[in-house]
Amino acid sequence: MAILVTGGAGFIGSHTCVELQQAGYDVVVYDNLSNSSEKSLERVEAITGKPVKFYKGDILDRDRLNEVFEKEQLDSCIHFAGLKAVGESVAKPWEYYENNIAGTLTLVDVMRKHNCKNIIFSSSATVYGDPAEIPITENCPKGQCTNPYGWTKSMLEQILSDMQKADNEWNVVLLRYFNPIGAHPSGTMGENPNGIPNNLMPYITQVAVGKLPELGVFGNDYDTPDGTGVRDYIHVVDLAKGHVKALKKIEENAGLKIYNLGTGVGYSVLDIVKNFEEANGIKIPYSIKPRRAGDIATCYSDATKAKEELGWEAEYGIKEMCADSWRWQKNNPNGYED
Ligand code: NAD
Ligand code: UFG
Repeated sequence: MAILVTGGAGFIGSHTCVELQQAGYDVVVYDNLSNSSEKSLERVEAITGKPVKFYKGDILDRDRLNEVFEKEQLDSCIHFAGLKAVGESVAKPWEYYENNIAGTLTLVDVMRKHNCKNIIFSSSATVYGDPAEIPITENCPKGQCTNPYGWTKSMLEQILSDMQKADNEWNVVLLRYFNPIGAHPSGTMGENPNGIPNNLMPYITQVAVGKLPELGVFGNDYDTPDGTGVRDYIHVVDLAKGHVKALKKIEENAGLKIYNLGTGVGYSVLDIVKNFEEANGIKIPYSIKPRRAGDIATCYSDATKAKEELGWEAEYGIKEMCADSWRWQKNNPNGYED
């Protein structure tokens, strides 16, 4: 039996393939490569020494999905495939709802028709909106999302939960990621954003490599220790390992489960700049800019539930996240394109 990894060529998916293979699982990747390169899978193979089975396909393509389920023995799916750019989702809401929601509905329909009723879904801390409590536990009520991307996560959580309630053969694990950064310590795999990065760490590494002149810090008048936004940054390898633990939970027929995957520690934008500079010996010029629409002041997790129920906790610290992000960028200035 193998694990279907939709979006497995992407940033988090490719790192998860490494951890799955190293834990002894067979993986089948399904990805339309709309935001990734097949080369990431060659890097997975180089690290693990095992082949990765790959099908190029779209989660909206029912026939192609059926073909994969007919060819492969699949008993669980880790579902990463989706569009994830917050700003783009505001400009193209229909495309986001179509891709993420219709795509997931098609995927789970094909899954159940092939009696594969185990799914781990990539959700996000964004579902908490402006969180009602800090640190955020899983009991914190979901909030108002500030963009269509966030709503797709919130709605898909509801859809998958309702399906599990109606048919208890389903096992559904909703993983709410905080802010994944870092890269594989080998320096051969990492985040490969198209165009100018929206997220903080890829922006910093592109300043460090000389592609961008300086970082814009979006606001220094938040109610936080230094006025800049505070987030729970988590190393992508830790995040990937969380998926292996979630699979173990699925193997116990766990029903519906929800976990935060974060470190439980918040760092401000300026903390990240300082840690990046110290870890790598590179100066990051920055200037203070206005707040970015939709941003909140503080967002970090209470990571106790995942520790108690999954036996998972983040192992890497902020210095390793900064060093590994930089190693990847420095060794691969054009991502997977060289
Ligand atoms: P990514 O863009 O690197 O990976 C997503 C992958 O899905 C890409 O390889 C893309 O080609 C593929 N894809 C997109 N639409 C598809 C479709 N219709 N059919 C088939 N493949 C499709 O993003 P990532 O950072 O690795 O994120 C993975 C998942 O985690 C996403 O669902 C994302 O929303 C979620 N998530 C990411 C973050 C983050 O900060 N990176 C935070 C919370 C949640
Ligand atoms: N920031 C800057 N300058 C930049 C980019 C970001 O100052 O150029 C700041 C932001 O204002 C924020 C912090 O850095 O305070 C982190 O911003 P990111 O864009 O890296 O991350 P977000 O917390 O805004 O959102 C990310 C993903 C979402 C996901 C969320 C989960 O983009 O998809 O984490 O917590 F939902």
